[in-house]
Amino acid sequence: MSVDNSFESQVEQDQVAVQDGLQLIEFAPQQRPLIEEVLEGLTAKEKSLPAKLHYDQRGSMLFEQICDVDEYYITRTELALMREISGAIGDTLGNGCMLIEPGSGASLKTDLLLSAMPNPAAYVPVDISRDFLLESATAIAERHDIEVLPVWADFTKGHPIPSCEAVVRNRAIYFPGSTVGNFSRSDASQLLQNFASMIRDESDDEQIHSEGAVVVGFDCKKDTSRMEAAYNDAEGVTAEFNYNVIDRLAQELRVSLDREKFTFRADWVEDEGAIVSRLWVDESHTVEMAGEAVRFEAGEAIRMEESHKYTPDEFKTLAQQSGLGMERIWTDDAADFAVAYLRPLSV
Ligand code: AVI
Repeated sequence: MSVDNSFESQVEQDQVAVQDGLQLIEFAPQQRPLIEEVLEGLTAKEKSLPAKLHYDQRGSMLFEQICDVDEYYITRTELALMREISGAIGDTLGNGCMLIEPGSGASLKTDLLLSAMPNPAAYVPVDISRDFLLESATAIAERHDIEVLPVWADFTKGHPIPSCEAVVRNRAIYFPGSTVGNFSRSDASQLLQNFASMIRDESDDEQIHSEGAVVVGFDCKKDTSRMEAAYNDAEGVTAEFNYNVIDRLAQELRVSLDREKFTFRADWVEDEGAIVSRLWVDESHTVEMAGEAVRFEAGEAIRMEESHKYTPDEFKTLAQQSGLGMERIWTDDAADFAVAYLRPLSV
């Protein structure tokens, strides 16, 4: 996934809509036609497909199943950790904090954090899928006595932050789930810089009294065998999550790729510090896409997703390069997963 550094802070009047009783900020950017992105990725020297293609309705359902497979320790470890530490995070964030969640999931983790925050000012979920955003924002509004201000936007491209009724003492960004791992190291750094400017930006809101925080969950480096097993589960759910992208291309873009001609495998790539998920081409063939013939050679691969892993020290360095200091870090006993509490470094 790639990240832009364009950053808008002002909400224009025509960007506000009322939907399902919620005030929705509409800031969805013009999307480039998907076929162009797909063609660009599949005709590059190293073939790739945009990782965002994983998350259609079926893909999102498969991802939920991945979270429950034995080998995928990430979700349950983070949730158990959040049960232990959300009180401490809430205390540190303090009164009157506006919680912004890029790529909101209305997850149990968000519930834990919101419940632990003393008098939160507002909850601002941000998502590119309008339906999913409204669904999850409504669910949070039903469960918590808090102003919920959804923003329909691509969080990797920058977006405005709504004002709320309560006095905002600070803003915090909650970025759980090791989603940061799905960005290359340089994109992750750009994203953290964007987050730093979002919590720092005081020009549009004079109510803000103190600099905010970024609370981010990341997966720690560990035994290669455990990391690889997490993405090559025996039931094949992760493989299906990737084959589903091929099916989507066939159904939505009429690109007649055949899943039977590919084999899924995820490998630890030491140089990148990442698990790289790929679909390997089993037999050479040519596929026509938007009037172009695209050749797939046996033995080459389509890069589907990167899942970067960090040691706590590596993540501290990444944060510092992005203008954020690591004030606290929590891990589970086995140090499999970490939650970092980052604050802007003084400039
Ligand atoms: C969402 N993200 C953090 C997951 C990960 O671990 O990279 C996506 C995933 N892909 C395969 N399994 C899980």
